[in-house]
Amino acid sequence: MLAQRIDRLTSSLVRDILAAAQRPEVISFAGGLPADEALFRPSPAAMQSLPDVWQYGQSEGEWVLRELVALRVNALGLACTPQQVLILNGSQQGIDLVAKLMIERDTPVLVEAPAYLAALQAFRLFGAQCLPVPVDPRAGVDPARFEALASQARLTYLTPTFQNPSGYCYGDAERNQVAAVLDRAGAVLFEDDPYRDLSYDGPAPAPIAGRLRQAQWVYQGSFSKTLAPGLRLGYLVAHPALMPHLVRLKQAADLHSNRLSQHLVAQVMADGTLDRHVAAVLPLYRARRDAMDAALRRHLGDLAQWACPAGGLFFWVRLTERRDTMALMREALRHDLALMPGEAFFQGEADASYLRLNFSHASIERIDEGIARLAGLLRAQALAA
Ligand SMILES: Cc1ncc(COP(=O)(O)O)c(C=O)c1O
Repeated sequence: MLAQRIDRLTSSLVRDILAAAQRPEVISFAGGLPADEALFRPSPAAMQSLPDVWQYGQSEGEWVLRELVALRVNALGLACTPQQVLILNGSQQGIDLVAKLMIERDTPVLVEAPAYLAALQAFRLFGAQCLPVPVDPRAGVDPARFEALASQARLTYLTPTFQNPSGYCYGDAERNQVAAVLDRAGAVLFEDDPYRDLSYDGPAPAPIAGRLRQAQWVYQGSFSKTLAPGLRLGYLVAHPALMPHLVRLKQAADLHSNRLSQHLVAQVMADGTLDRHVAAVLPLYRARRDAMDAALRRHLGDLAQWACPAGGLFFWVRLTERRDTMALMREALRHDLALMPGEAFFQGEADASYLRLNFSHASIERIDEGIARLAGLLRAQALAA
């Protein structure tokens, strides 16, 4: 009775683990959740000053917000007009729309290895044949491998700025090189950029999409990590040739994004609240990142390797010995600790055992306690082996 694609729909591990991590006693390193105290909560006065938002709106999004997003994206070095901006109910929707636009059965799609697991899930649902390019958290992508696969792919999905999960950020030269390859190969670039503003050691290099000369592109961002995920608001900016199709797909999916969230976000962008809010949150996240780095060194120094991320929300931890990280995740949950097994982020075999650990959500004390608990579990497993 069901469509064949449903057989390709794997369960979202994140959702399952997050559900299990709901209990207050669980220390959660599992999701990509902002800190509760960092969530933007509008004042009653701000709510009252919103325009009338209760009628249907435009599929493309509210014009005032499209203009503000275009200004911001231009300032990053990606030239666009407000007409190229499509407002999304969360940037996850951009992944769905781009997948619908570009992917049918066996469409070759270049993805990073590791890659954002909910993107892999959406691409697979539409039948993609994922072509993984390894991303080394210290050295980045192998250019020859990238070029070989980009020339076979119809779509290239990259998260070059504080990647989820590896935390890797492509440097300027690497971005230019990738852009040049994509221009030669002709594959459409889909650049997913929700972590750009969470940069702890200086600004990130400009997007790859702005460096292209020929290839078509979609660039997207999100307000989930900087303001609040409950707003369900993100945006995409697209090459003019792709835009009309994406607008029709958006219309077919949900008519338009939530107007209340759109006007709230437009207000906080226009009056500078967004930038002030991000500036206020960064020290908290920087402190938590440093606390997790210190805790890892204290408790896991002999059991794992990692690079301290310059931005984003995650540590990508490589275990020195191969482990069944799914079993480790289940065992950790029994000890009130939630973490993400690395294999969920790979299309096919991973080259080693990894864990993704989120550092933004738990307090500094709980970060240390959680990492100590993880080290205890790994040592107990090693003894039992
Ligand atoms: C790389 C990446 N893309 C997209 C999303 C979806 O974000 P949202 O739909 O909240 O904007 C996430 C969320 O964690 C992400 O990590």
